[in-house]
Amino acid sequence: MVKKIAVLTGGGDCPGLNAVIRAVVKTAINEYGLEVIGIEDGFGGLIKKQMRRLTVDDVAGILHRGGTILGTTNRDNPFRYPVVEKGEKRYVDLSDEIMQTLQEEKIDVLVVIGGDGSLSIAKEFHEKGLKVIGIPKTIDNDLSATDRTFGFDTAVNTATEALDKLHTTAESHHRVMVLEVMGRYAGWIALESGIAGGADVILIPEIPYRIEKVCAKIKERLERGRKFSIVVVAEGAHPEGGEMVVQRRVEDSADPIRLGGIGHVVGRQIEECSGMETRVTVLGHLQRGGSPTPYDRILATRYGAAAVRFLMEGKFGEMVCLRGTEITTVPLAEAVKVLKKVPLDSDLIRAARAVGISFGD
Ligand code: F6P
Repeated sequence: MVKKIAVLTGGGDCPGLNAVIRAVVKTAINEYGLEVIGIEDGFGGLIKKQMRRLTVDDVAGILHRGGTILGTTNRDNPFRYPVVEKGEKRYVDLSDEIMQTLQEEKIDVLVVIGGDGSLSIAKEFHEKGLKVIGIPKTIDNDLSATDRTFGFDTAVNTATEALDKLHTTAESHHRVMVLEVMGRYAGWIALESGIAGGADVILIPEIPYRIEKVCAKIKERLERGRKFSIVVVAEGAHPEGGEMVVQRRVEDSADPIRLGGIGHVVGRQIEECSGMETRVTVLGHLQRGGSPTPYDRILATRYGAAAVRFLMEGKFGEMVCLRGTEITTVPLAEAVKVLKKVPLDSDLIRAARAVGISFGD
């Protein structure tokens, strides 16, 4: 019998998190008369016992707000929590303490809104006997178990808007404009914003590029009197036989690698080989902030409401997901197994090629 649930947001934030929290709280209280506890700053809040009761009033007016009212972190894995003793760092397993805290607080089910890192932790807790349900979030859209993660549409919108703006200035100055976008090891944001924003070249991790091919495309445009070009580069893009560019390491994060910098590498090379003035914009965390699009607000609301409905049906150890037009669930173990990369034979790639976009291959 479920009476009290807790909800947390983990990993990097993304637009739509508040819309999910709102849907979870409203569905739980209005439809099922449950009590809802909000955990602050991801799993860190469970370790530090930072939590508060959430009422319908607490989630009023947050549907359109970016970020998360609960806070988040991509560190604080309770199964591998770093402690420093006598100047030495070591890792401890605090999962038993957390299980006890949840029992003391009489929390029956934990709702985890997160990406692959937080959902892997959720899976480990489920294997320990905790009742959990996951909700997928990430601007990268790289979870294979769902057709769409919320946040992605907003990120694509932001990148497309940036491309529209870069287009006008590129055309006026006869320049090449390079836009580096996020997406980690998948090229979804670059591909979709590149198509929507009329890019001439899109470089994604799934298709290693050759800089000569990129330059050939830009020169061919020049010969046709098109004195500017727009190049979208995914942060995970890399040349044939080359490596991704790592910007920094964030230790104690599920994946410590932070990509970034490939835009400048490509920009320099384009300037050298084409002789055209080339400028680089790195869109960065602008893609993660701001108000979610209507699509993301709706998907987030559907996910939140469905998660509560499914947990009331006793579906635990599952993640809600979108399959076609339907919201369903998939076991957490499946949800975190494979990264969803852009398939090379996808219709998106074919359509992009058909309209003359080069992938540098
Ligand atoms: O996974 C979301 C994401 O924004 C990636 O696209 C990006 O590589 C990474 O997170 C950036 O993480 P951080 O906020 O730690 O810089």
